Amino acid sequence: MSGVPHHASGAIAATNLVTPSGDRAPVRGDGPWPTEAAEQAVAWEDGVITYVGQADGLTGVEPEWFEGCTIAPGFVDCHTHLPFAGWRADEFEARLSGLSYRDLHGEGGIYRSARMLAAASEDEVLAFCRSLVQEMAEHGTTALELKTGYGLSVEAELRQARLARRLSEEAPQTCSVTLLACHAVPEGMERADWVRVVCDELIPAAARERLVDAVDVYVEDIAFSVDDLAEVAGCASDVGLPLRCHADQLGPSGAAEAAVALAARSADHLNHVSATGIAALGGAPTTVAVLLPTSTLFLGSSPPDVRALLDAGAAVAIATDFNPGTSPVLSMPEAIATACSLYGLQPLEALAAATVNASAALGLAPQRGTLAPGRPADLVVLDGDAFRMVPYRPGHNPVVRTFVDGERVGGR
Ligand code: NIG
Ligand code: FE
Repeated sequence: MSGVPHHASGAIAATNLVTPSGDRAPVRGDGPWPTEAAEQAVAWEDGVITYVGQADGLTGVEPEWFEGCTIAPGFVDCHTHLPFAGWRADEFEARLSGLSYRDLHGEGGIYRSARMLAAASEDEVLAFCRSLVQEMAEHGTTALELKTGYGLSVEAELRQARLARRLSEEAPQTCSVTLLACHAVPEGMERADWVRVVCDELIPAAARERLVDAVDVYVEDIAFSVDDLAEVAGCASDVGLPLRCHADQLGPSGAAEAAVALAARSADHLNHVSATGIAALGGAPTTVAVLLPTSTLFLGSSPPDVRALLDAGAAVAIATDFNPGTSPVLSMPEAIATACSLYGLQPLEALAAATVNASAALGLAPQRGTLAPGRPADLVVLDGDAFRMVPYRPGHNPVVRTFVDGERVGGR
């Protein structure tokens, strides 16, 4: 389009631009990985990208120039546990003294977050979460998941889902809400009875009110079984909701391969995924392998064999797992840095994992997570002249500017 004057409501240019191509979403196994190009510009109008290419090919518009910086698609945080209300730093300290996450499950853990959420008013929850969501925008997150799972009764789960919808309405980012219907067995109840209630009451009610976009199950020895997952999958599919799964986090359970067999949109965590699970994810037509490296670091868990997942052909995503128990980390740059250092991802593999592949896990790809004309203008400006500067400098916030649908929502 060189020489044709552009009309744009926004335009930026920088020393470097990096994006997954977006023709194939998600990016699987051996690529193609994102590519970097020098002296590039992006322009947009009405929130939609109209130009991506050589900065000197953009005529009729004066882009804001970011010297020494990199333009990239906005980060998609496809696994968080917001909204929640309050921290659990004392549990972190107790773990440092030798207790395990399993030891704390009851007095602490998910049950404790459920009590804190129940004790907080709706305004208190929203006030607590609002600033966190803004902090995510400052760290380059342009789309994110919100999740229930701290309700642990039908009414409390629906309340949390409604809070998630309210938060999503006021958040500057695009949000997708997941019903984590089976997170912990409610106190005083048998596991099988709760699964029945989830299927007979909770999922239908959440679907009727259009409160959620997906359903999730935590498969673990301290939580729910692969059979429970299958039962919930059936009920979710009856109301047209896609399935997600917390799989093989604390121990192996066969959850990853079950998630693939049930055509789940994602299998998340995967610290103890088996060789069968890796093979299943490698050939999975729809299931994204969502890696949560900051929870691995924070719990001191063993990392999954991510190279084996990629070699098998899996579509790999990265998210923060932001929650007060296993990952009080809301920064996608930090999750990317941890994925590279702890899981051995290459920077450009990590970028695809944190953008287009994460977007696929939320059902938003390829629209969100790639830069191309016709796509929403969700982008970040990063302060290094190559994307590898992001994982190379953990603890540094590289985000200079964040745009969602062409609107500036964060940055310095
Ligand atoms: O993804 N493992 C289950 N759920 C969360 C942690 C929830 C919590 O401890 O509050 C996770 O790690
Ligand atoms: Fe989680």
